[in-house]
Amino acid sequence: METLMGGPLRFYQLVFVSILCAACYSSLPEKIPREPPDNLQMTSNNFQHILSWRAHSDPTVPTYYRVLYSSHSNWKIAKQCSRIVQPFCNLTDDFQVVSDEYSAFVQSFVGTEVFNSSLLYFSPLSETFLGPPEFNLSSCVHCINITIKLPPTHLRKNGKLLSLFDIYNKVDYEITLRTVGEEHKVNS
Ligand SMILES: *[C@@H]1O[C@H](CO)[C@@H](O)[C@H](O)[C@H]1NC(C)=O
Ligand SMILES: *[C@@H]1O[C@H](CO)[C@@H](O)[C@H](O)[C@H]1NC(C)=O
Ligand SMILES: *[C@@H]1O[C@H](CO)[C@@H](O)[C@H](O)[C@H]1NC(C)=O
Ligand SMILES: *[C@@H]1O[C@H](CO)[C@@H](O)[C@H](O)[C@H]1NC(C)=O
Repeated sequence: METLMGGPLRFYQLVFVSILCAACYSSLPEKIPREPPDNLQMTSNNFQHILSWRAHSDPTVPTYYRVLYSSHSNWKIAKQCSRIVQPFCNLTDDFQVVSDEYSAFVQSFVGTEVFNSSLLYFSPLSETFLGPPEFNLSSCVHCINITIKLPPTHLRKNGKLLSLFDIYNKVDYEITLRTVGEEHKVNS
């Protein structure tokens, strides 16, 4: 009686266990190789500097990042990026001396391992993108009235936002006027 009942029961248990195992093999995550962050890029407009990078993170392993930068001296930890999970960092408040050349890199902390990215070099004064300006046009007798307003910057000094004039002392722009068959350039 016991063996008659036990036989089929064990068969069902075996089938159940093997189905479970098939499920657990297929759900095992593919192992992602652990590598340092790479592809560092600076997106900088009007002195707002955002560093981004490509993460090689395995979603099953807790990962966080730290951004370090330096101009002449020791490495400093970026104010807003000492322990972040997103793959970008706002360095606007860190790069205060706009004429300096900064180096920056990203450390990733993956479980118990630490990886350093390669260095990115950046000079705010010469590499930030400026613009676009705001302008209004109106007509007057035998003239065109163009009012130009330069974009605000994100750079602060003593808590106050600086203008492009404060930073560069001189800003050049070129105005091109096109009419049918004619073109005039004005430099200012
Ligand atoms: C970056 O930081 C600057 C200065 O704190 C701030 O003005 C700006 O809005 C920030 N930009 C982003 C995208 O968070
Ligand atoms: C990563 O950078 C830190 C800070 O400069 C340094 O102390 C550490 O030795 C570096 N690690 C590797 C593996 O290069
Ligand atoms: C353009 O005109 C609008 C509406 O009058 C005004 O709000 C804006 O400040 C002007 N911009 C410039 C650059 O003068
Ligand atoms: C040009 O526009 C500005 C701002 O609207 C105004 O203050 C100025 O008087 C205008 N000039 C002429 C010549 O119309």
